[in-house]
Amino acid sequence: MSAEIFNKANALLSEIQEATPQTKDELEEYRIKYIGSKGLIKKLFGEIRHVDKDKKREFGQLANSVKKAAEAKFNELKAELEAAADQDVEVPDLTAPGEYFGLGARHPISLLTNEIIEVFNRIGFTVAEEREIEDDWHNFSAMNTPEDHPARDMQDTFYLKDSTKMLLRTHTSSVQARMMTAGEPPIRIIAPGRVYRNETISARSHCQFHQVEGLYIAENVSFADLKQTLLYFAKEMYGASKIRLRPSYFPFTEPSAEMDIYWGLKDETDYRITKGTGWLEILGCGMVDPNVLKNCGIDPERYSGFAFGMGIERQAMLKYRISDIRYLFENDVRFLKQFEGAM
Ligand code: PHE
Repeated sequence: MSAEIFNKANALLSEIQEATPQTKDELEEYRIKYIGSKGLIKKLFGEIRHVDKDKKREFGQLANSVKKAAEAKFNELKAELEAAADQDVEVPDLTAPGEYFGLGARHPISLLTNEIIEVFNRIGFTVAEEREIEDDWHNFSAMNTPEDHPARDMQDTFYLKDSTKMLLRTHTSSVQARMMTAGEPPIRIIAPGRVYRNETISARSHCQFHQVEGLYIAENVSFADLKQTLLYFAKEMYGASKIRLRPSYFPFTEPSAEMDIYWGLKDETDYRITKGTGWLEILGCGMVDPNVLKNCGIDPERYSGFAFGMGIERQAMLKYRISDIRYLFENDVRFLKQFEGAM
């Protein structure tokens, strides 16, 4: 009888030695099966009553060693599993190559604007920046634009909600009024900035775009000064050999003109964009109308001046051969990346 029970105990011991729980769940199963309060070891101790009296002590020692072995194994495996779990926490690989942070690129509009500013800086024009939300007076009235001028129409101008006085400036000419009312001549400024017009968005036009305005007010400023300044700009900016001034009309200049640069006819694209003439219209200009000077508190008997204004988008499109103005406003990285490295 006793021998059988001793064999059982030894069999249990080797079973425990051979057990290989791998996971937390398997280890828990192992614990319940052998060490738990209803486990096989508990049962083994129960067998002691069937053991012959003189063997009880020996059996007790054997059962104890089975228990010790089972517990030791459990503790060891538990520690191993916990250590492994700690290692599973994701430790970043510090030797991996870093993520690439692109440096970004200047927007073509900024590139062009900066170039224009630089050209005029060289002949003494300084940058003046002003507000995009303007009042009717600076945008229109001061600029000699009559009450019934079509440009004032709701069709062209974005007025602020519930206001006929506040608007998004429709041109940078509003900066002329700001500068003339704020300062005394001589005034020699270049004013880049965004302007807005209520126009249908297409490949050629947008409801927001950018202009650069120029203004020079001093004593004895003549149309010849205007012409020389613009010729200098055309040469520096475009390497143009000549310019031409065509009579035009703006409410705030008299006389007014539009300036074309000679672009040339070197290839097919040149034929297309100049409509076969070789000439490209770049800006509007003229001598500041005496009414504008008066409106802004400058004596037209003493001072005269010229002004010009040009759109940036069209120039960017020409320079970078961009076929659709909308690319300039969509911020598509695939488009913008092409200007990486340009200064
Ligand atoms: N403000 C005019 C426009 O938006 C351009 C211009 C500016 C013309 C200054 C003459 C003088 O078209």
